[in-house]
Amino acid sequence: MNNFKLFIETNKDKLNAFAKDYVEKLEMPDILKESITYSLVNDGKKIRPLSFLYLLKFYGIEYSKYFDIALAIELVHTYSLVHDDLPEMDNDDYRWGKYTNHKVYGQDVAVLTGDAMLTLAFEVLSDADVKPDLKVRLIKQFANYSGAMGMIAGQIYDVKQKNYDVDADYLRKMHSLKTGRLIELPLDFACLVANKLEDYDDVKEFGQQLGIAYQIKDDILDYYGDFEKIGKLPSDEDMITYLSFYGIEECEELLKQHTFNAITVAKRLNNNLLEDFANYLLKRDK
Ligand code: IPE
Ligand code: IPE
Ligand code: MG
Ligand code: MG
Repeated sequence: MNNFKLFIETNKDKLNAFAKDYVEKLEMPDILKESITYSLVNDGKKIRPLSFLYLLKFYGIEYSKYFDIALAIELVHTYSLVHDDLPEMDNDDYRWGKYTNHKVYGQDVAVLTGDAMLTLAFEVLSDADVKPDLKVRLIKQFANYSGAMGMIAGQIYDVKQKNYDVDADYLRKMHSLKTGRLIELPLDFACLVANKLEDYDDVKEFGQQLGIAYQIKDDILDYYGDFEKIGKLPSDEDMITYLSFYGIEECEELLKQHTFNAITVAKRLNNNLLEDFANYLLKRDK
């Protein structure tokens, strides 16, 4: 069996339970707590936090000690989607097989829920049990990958694509930023927490290749996927995506190519767990 699939089956429910308990204990307005929990505890894949824990496991680290860092990663991912679904952005009604946050709680609360999750992520990360100098490095990288030079930049290139001449380089840059950075981050973090600095550059390259592959697969599934599995409907059809730009056959080819590039790096690292991770993402249907 694929090691990553096995890892998800063992840890996804634990991670959801950890997240729910963590938020439950915090003091905040009831509606905010309910709204954060509604979006955070969901039927999503939890790829980002689980890949962080999974790579720690490969490095022989007792990964259950680091569920808080995993939670911080998932908080940022979830906030990005609560905002991404808003009417002023992608205007989507469904996410994780249920109504989007703003459909349930209203746009005002949805915006604030995203803000709260982003800031909470930094608070959770600040409480993690790692040495102070490492913690500062993680916090800075977290801000960089999720902020104006990272994921938010990618989201701007996406929503404002009509202002630009969209070509292959543009698409690649947009996707590396909006999706790639948050796929790279957990793997980079695992390397840093495990103090495997000698692997860092390769792990980074692995994450970069996989980040592009991940978004190509997302675009394909958005269009051809099954609502029962992916839990969301196709967004605005006027937007340029990998699929609309390249067409399905070339997209499938690019997806294989980027996954193959990632696997080549995993082999160089002698890391069969990362190889399984890449293969799992290639074949996923949700
Ligand atoms: C969706 O991410 C948005 C992208 C950045 C591609 P996921 O597919 O990983 O989100 P979950 O699993 O539904 O949370
Ligand atoms: C979402 O990208 C990326 C981020 C939130 C950073 P998309 O808009 O393409 O993803 P879906 O299809 O809504 O999940
Ligand atoms: Mg979007
Ligand atoms: Mg969207």
